Amino acid sequence: MSKAFSGSNVVFSGIQATGAKQLGNYIGAMRQYVATQDEGEAFFCIVDLHSITADYDPQDLHDRTLDLAALLYAVGLDPKRCTLFLQSHVTAHAESAWLLSAVTGFGQLGRMTQFKEKGEGKEFVSAGLFTYPVLMAGDILLYQTDIVPVGDDQRQHVELARDIAQRFNARYGETFTIPRGVFPQVGARIMDLQEPTKKMSTSAGTPQGTVLILDEPDTIRKKFKTAVTDSGREVRYAPDEKPGVSNLIEILSVASGTSIPEVEAAYDGRGYGDLKGDVGEAVVTLFAPVKERYAELRADDGELRRLLSVGAEKARETAKPTLESMYERMGFVLR
Ligand code: TYM
Repeated sequence: MSKAFSGSNVVFSGIQATGAKQLGNYIGAMRQYVATQDEGEAFFCIVDLHSITADYDPQDLHDRTLDLAALLYAVGLDPKRCTLFLQSHVTAHAESAWLLSAVTGFGQLGRMTQFKEKGEGKEFVSAGLFTYPVLMAGDILLYQTDIVPVGDDQRQHVELARDIAQRFNARYGETFTIPRGVFPQVGARIMDLQEPTKKMSTSAGTPQGTVLILDEPDTIRKKFKTAVTDSGREVRYAPDEKPGVSNLIEILSVASGTSIPEVEAAYDGRGYGDLKGDVGEAVVTLFAPVKERYAELRADDGELRRLLSVGAEKARETAKPTLESMYERMGFVLR
């Protein structure tokens, strides 16, 4: 199918509605969203349909969805330069997931590490958790997406979306652009401050090792002060050997806009204590204006809903021709 936009990239990314947003979300993903909104036509989606695949509370989903919209605008998404919308407002997402399930292998889904990790030890694992990556493939493919800015933990899902697109194109004719994941050079996987061999996450990490974007400044400082570091005193970037220190170096590099070698050089001979204090301060400074804008934006429910409805309208129009081609090529009698 012909591209909806020529001469520039289509950018698409999604973020779960539930769970408080943490530093890893910001460094691995949100920061990239803001940077890519001028690379072409950019779509950012609050994936509320994905949020029901694990245990959740309906009222919490409702509140968190609007919280997240305010937060995304607060970090710098500009409604004039990108389209932010809710997945459930564009029915093409749920429809495309069903259609694409026909070209997704059962075995492929079973190999997804996130499915295995999130399902492990749970008494009830929903079918939605298993088919989750098909919905995500639909999200991406409906917009003829070129680039998908995400953190490292989404790598396998983006690969699957590419496979699904290729299989669909081969079976039914060229329909989808093959998307490509883009990962930040520094900070693609921010680790838990208490267990630095695990990624930072509100669902699977430790509360003390997870820095929330909206944490109070003193809470942020304390979380960094008590961060687990490695043996020795040397501030050196070596993720396999020194995961705790390397994580702090990456965070400081991003929060202060300096390179990793510059951070190493600045802490040469100074030890971990200084590093922890300074990373905490840099993150407090990074999030202070976000917190302020968030409070203003969140206070105006009506305006948030209005912006999301404008976003949904744009998303619906953009997704429509691709969804129609899918139905047509798969042999459905069109309405
Ligand atoms: P989600 O909501 O878990 O995470 C949102 C984004 O944050 C990134 N991220 C991290 N990056 C670095 N370090 C961390 N510790 C960290 N934790 C989270 C994630 O990589 C992600 O980019 N399945 C997706 C949502 C989704 C999506 C999509 C993404 C649905 N449809 C289409 C892209 C395109 C998810 O659950 O992300």
